[in-house]
Amino acid sequence: MVARDKARLVVLASGNGSNFQAIIDACENGRLDAEIVLLVVNRPGAYALERARTHGIPSRLIDHKDFADRESFDAAMAEAIDAARPDWIVMAGFMRILTDDFVDRFQGRLINIHPSLLPKYPGMNTHARALETGDRVHGATVHFVTPTVDAGPPIVQGRLEIFDKDDVESLKQRIHGVEHRIYPLAIDWLVKGSIDFDRAAAQTSPAVVDASGALIVPPSP
Ligand code: GAR
Repeated sequence: MVARDKARLVVLASGNGSNFQAIIDACENGRLDAEIVLLVVNRPGAYALERARTHGIPSRLIDHKDFADRESFDAAMAEAIDAARPDWIVMAGFMRILTDDFVDRFQGRLINIHPSLLPKYPGMNTHARALETGDRVHGATVHFVTPTVDAGPPIVQGRLEIFDKDDVESLKQRIHGVEHRIYPLAIDWLVKGSIDFDRAAAQTSPAVVDASGALIVPPSP
C-alpha cells in the first residue's frame, strides 16, 4: 500500500496564535492528518512565532510595514506561500485585509476563522456587539475566504449560550475554546474531502457544533 502524503498547511497569523496552537496539537496528536509546513506572520512581536519555534515549524515574518502598499505585501506573502506548496492556507487570527488578487489566487484553498456566527457581526468587536444586541447565542465560524470580508461560504459554526454574567472578556475566552475545537475539525473535513468550496457554497446552512463539542448538524454530503 502506498502511504498517502500528509496534507500540507500554511498558517497565517498576526498575534497570540492560540488557534495555530490548536492546529499544531491536532497535527501532533494524530487527530489531523496534516503537517504545518510554514507559519507566516505580519507582525514582529507575534507570539505565534514563538509557538512555531517551540514546535520546529518553519516560519517567516513578512512585516506589512516594510511594504509600500497592500499589493506588494500580498505579492510577497503569495510568493512565500507558493514556495511552501500548501494544500490549504489557514488564516488563524490574521488581521489584515487581503487584496482581491491574493484571494482569487488561493480561493477554494484559503480558510479563515471569525469570532461570530456569520453573517452576524463581520468585522471587529464581535463579542461586544453580541452583548449590546442582547443575543442569547454567540459563536465562531470557519469559512472559505472570498474577496468580500467575512462573507465566504461557511464550513462549520460552533455555538454557545451567552450567560447573564458574561462580559466581553469571558465571552472571548469561551469563544476561544469553541474555536480550538472547530478549526481542527474543519481542516480534518477539508483534508478528507468531506467538504469543499462548491459544496460549502451550495449548502443553505453550515455544520454546527454545540458548546460540549458535539456535532449537531454534520456537513451536507
Ligand atoms: C480569534 O478569536 C479569531 O477568531 C480572530 O482573532 C482571534 C485570534 O486569536 N479572528 C478575527 O477576528 C478575524 N476577523 P489567536 O491568535 O489566539 O488564534
